[in-house]
Amino acid sequence: MQPALVRENREDRPAAVRLRNCSLSFGGVPVLKNVSLDVYRNEFVSILGPSGCGKSTLLRLMLGLVRPEGGGTIDFAGKSPRIGIVFQKPVLMPWLTALQNVELALSLGENKRKWPKRERREKAEEALRLVGLQDFRRHYPHQLSGGMQQRVAIARALATDPEILLLDEPFSALDELNREKLNLELLRLWENPRTSLSTVVMVTHSIPESVLMSDRVLVMSPRPAEVTAVVPVPLKRPRETGMEKDPAFYHTVGELRKRVRQP
Ligand SMILES: Nc1ncnc2c1ncn2[C@@H]1O[C@H](COP(=O)(O)OP(=O)(O)OP(=O)(O)O)[C@@H](O)[C@H]1O
Ligand SMILES: [Mg+2]
Repeated sequence: MQPALVRENREDRPAAVRLRNCSLSFGGVPVLKNVSLDVYRNEFVSILGPSGCGKSTLLRLMLGLVRPEGGGTIDFAGKSPRIGIVFQKPVLMPWLTALQNVELALSLGENKRKWPKRERREKAEEALRLVGLQDFRRHYPHQLSGGMQQRVAIARALATDPEILLLDEPFSALDELNREKLNLELLRLWENPRTSLSTVVMVTHSIPESVLMSDRVLVMSPRPAEVTAVVPVPLKRPRETGMEKDPAFYHTVGELRKRVRQP
């Protein structure tokens, strides 16, 4: 089957994730201030902002790990969409193989009831196949490179069939070549109709990466963070290496450079 390259027009659809007036403070220190944003189905959105401004906190808010204060709301299209997350570090269990690490995610909480043991094995193997690690499923984390470990973490997030994937600087620990390779692999997974994945929100510190990957880039201010700009990326899909030479690419990079402020 060909990847679904023609993506639906987002204006026709309700937002997959809608935040309204979300504020949050830790111990009286305001971190997020009135954050409102929409992320649509079939959309890839990146979030840029200075270190410590509240980007990871924003993802934790979307995941339901923390709650907004004072009347802020978070709504999802559909009742309770499946949400996957990939953290900055792969956080794999060192005593479990790649396959067992992915299986573990399928045996936690309500996932355990949803997928009996045999199905868990099949789903974990399929997820490792999607990220190209089928031949490494019996390897332990220390026998895998950093990039491979990060791919296991992506497989673990994909195994539960998320509709929404939250990525917190997933490739920041990798060298530039591996990072570019995994970025493009991630885009191919998102485009692959065999995955249920439709909406991606990725936090990154790299302006060129945000442009290469996204339909829109949200810029946050220093803490207490607000969304200060939403910049659309006028590049066609599928995104490929070499697009960095497109004038629209460096024009968008320039626009974002002007808007990202350091604290
Ligand atoms: N659980 C917590 N308890 C107290 N303070 C917290 C907690 N989580 C985050 N913070 C504070 O909230 C602020 C935002 O943190 P957050 O991790 O969201 O920033 P970030 O934008 O992801 O930064 P970076 O780019 O460095 O990852 C920081 O000042 C941090 O110290
Ligand atoms: Mg962070």
